[in-house]
Amino acid sequence: MQTAQPFRSVLVTGSNRGLGLELLRQLAQAEPPPRYLFAGCRDPESPRAQDLGNLAKRFSNIEVLKLDVDDFGSIQECADQIEKILENDGLNLLINNAGVNYGGALNEVTPEIMMNSYRTNAVGPMMVTKAFLPALLRAARLNDKFKTTVINMSSIMASMEQFDSTSAAAYAYRISKAALNMVTKCLANELKPHGILCTSLHPGWVQTEMGGEKAPLTKEESVRGILKVLLTLSEKDNGSFLDWRGQRLPW
Ligand SMILES: NC(=O)c1ccc[n+]([C@@H]2O[C@H](COP(=O)([O-])OP(=O)(O)OC[C@H]3O[C@@H](n4cnc5c(N)ncnc54)[C@H](OP(=O)(O)O)[C@@H]3O)[C@@H](O)[C@H]2O)c1
Repeated sequence: MQTAQPFRSVLVTGSNRGLGLELLRQLAQAEPPPRYLFAGCRDPESPRAQDLGNLAKRFSNIEVLKLDVDDFGSIQECADQIEKILENDGLNLLINNAGVNYGGALNEVTPEIMMNSYRTNAVGPMMVTKAFLPALLRAARLNDKFKTTVINMSSIMASMEQFDSTSAAAYAYRISKAALNMVTKCLANELKPHGILCTSLHPGWVQTEMGGEKAPLTKEESVRGILKVLLTLSEKDNGSFLDWRGQRLPW
């Protein structure tokens, strides 16, 4: 039975630390919480997944699953596992959060850094969405229109119109996230007739391993904003680029 909680089933990729872990923590504490909270993590046995393991012990709706977005076999295995758990239910919310930032100015960047960034930040989210499409389509059929959502965690550093020449060069990061933004546009166009939304979201500059300690926002603040934005998304936001306050960003 559908409850007031619009997100009955959620998958967050890269959920063992940073924004992914905080998204799970706040979603688990939502009232009412999602019935299924799938925590994708590339190595659930590693010490880096300890905080996630502890969170999953506290909340019985959290299911930790191995999901390496660079490994297409791992993506499909995770999708098969989730299909078994969901049975006839759908997946309401997919947050493609996993990402890498290897930094790098022109004199530092290599073809390997470029290709690895593209694989994790653009190809991975696209292939994850493809693998979970049957579950997303089921959710869209079972729910009101445009309550099934794919969020691609992007960055203002990918914006061409709002290019900040004072911030890090980060060729691989900027270019791979710009590619991710086009993934958002293509998915938004293709999935709209099925009632599924797809949006790129910039979480702000946040204190995580990636954001560093000089960042002005805490994980808690950023994720509180993101979850508020998610609750208000509608058809008009399909294929758009928003920040954690819901403000529209230029491509
Ligand atoms: N923090 C910021 O200021 C900021 C700003 C703009 C956008 N973002 C975006 O927000 C998202 C989350 O960032 P964050 O700050 O939380 O970063 P983070 O602290 O570096 O965490 C990144 C997460 O992604 C996971 N990951 C990396 N490669 C993966 C792969 N191949 N498969 C599965 N998981 C993988 C990491 O897992 P491991 O522990 O296994 O490495 C980790 O859980 C990213 O997409 C990032 O680009 C962040």
